[in-house]
Amino acid sequence: MKIVIPHKVCQLWQEELYGIVENAKEINKELIIMSKEISEKFLPDIQILRDEINYGKGYIQFTNIPIDKTIPSVPTDGTVSKEKGIISELSILGISNALGFNPFSYKEEKDGALVHEIVPVKSKEDIPSSNGTVEFDYHTDAAYLNRNLRPHTLSLMCLADKYKTGTRLASLSEALEKISEAEIDTLMSKLYVHTAPATFNVNLKKVNTSVLDRIDGIYEMKVAFHNTIGINEKAQKALASLHDAIDEVVFTQEWNPGNLVIFNNLRCVHGRGEVKGERWLQRCYGSSIIPTATVLELTC
Ligand SMILES: [Fe+2]
Repeated sequence: MKIVIPHKVCQLWQEELYGIVENAKEINKELIIMSKEISEKFLPDIQILRDEINYGKGYIQFTNIPIDKTIPSVPTDGTVSKEKGIISELSILGISNALGFNPFSYKEEKDGALVHEIVPVKSKEDIPSSNGTVEFDYHTDAAYLNRNLRPHTLSLMCLADKYKTGTRLASLSEALEKISEAEIDTLMSKLYVHTAPATFNVNLKKVNTSVLDRIDGIYEMKVAFHNTIGINEKAQKALASLHDAIDEVVFTQEWNPGNLVIFNNLRCVHGRGEVKGERWLQRCYGSSIIPTATVLELTC
C-alpha cells in the first residue's frame, strides 16, 4: 500500500512537531505519545493501515513524512549526530505508535536507542548487518528471539540515499504461493539453527527452531539467510526453495528523504544490495505486546 502525504499537510505536520519539541533534545515517552496524537490527525484511515500490516501484504510505503528542516552530514560512526534535531525520530516513533505498534529497543543493541542510525560504519563495512556495506541477504530482524520479544514491525525512514541502494522487501504470503505444501511443512519443523545477529551483544547465541509458524491461521516467519541453517538436506533444500520464491516476488523500495516504510517483521523479509556511498536511514522497532519506550534487557 502506498500513501502519499500532500506537501501542504507535511508542512503543517512538521510545524506541529517543532511545536512540541521546543528545546528538547532527548526523546522520551511523553514526546512519543504527543507525536502519536499528531500522526493520528494527519494520517488517512488508520484502521485500514493497521489491517494492511496485520492481514494484508504486510507493508506500507509512505511519501512526504516530516523530517528536520536541516539534515547534517551522515554520521559515519553510527551514533546519533549532535547537530541533528529530533523531528524525523518523532515522525517514525509517532506513526509506528499510531498504527498500534509500540516503539521499543534492546539494551544489547546500539545502547538501547529507540531510533537506530542505519549508516555504513567504517569498521563494520564487511559484516552483513545494518551498519555494513556488503550485500545483506533477506532476513527478518531478531529472528533468533522468541515471538513475544521480536519486533513485530520495522519502520525505516530515509534521510539520504545518494547512490540509490534501495531496500529489498518481500511479502511472505506471496512467496509461499511459489513453494510446495511439503516444503512448507518442512519449514514449520524444528529443523533449523538460528544464530543471533552481529549487532546484538549476546555472544552469537544459537537456537534450534522452525522457520515458519502458523499463528491464528496466518503464516509467520523467522529467518536470516546468512544466519539460519537447516540441520539436514531436506531442511536445507526447503530453505533454498523459500529463498528462490522470495527472489520471484521481491521488490525494491527506492529511497528519497521523507520516505518511510513500515512493515510486518513476522510476515515480510528485507535485505539490500551493496551500499556504494552516502546513505542514512533511521529505524525503529514496534511491538503489539511490549509497552511504548521499553528498553528490553535480553538475558542470554
Ligand atoms: Fe534488518
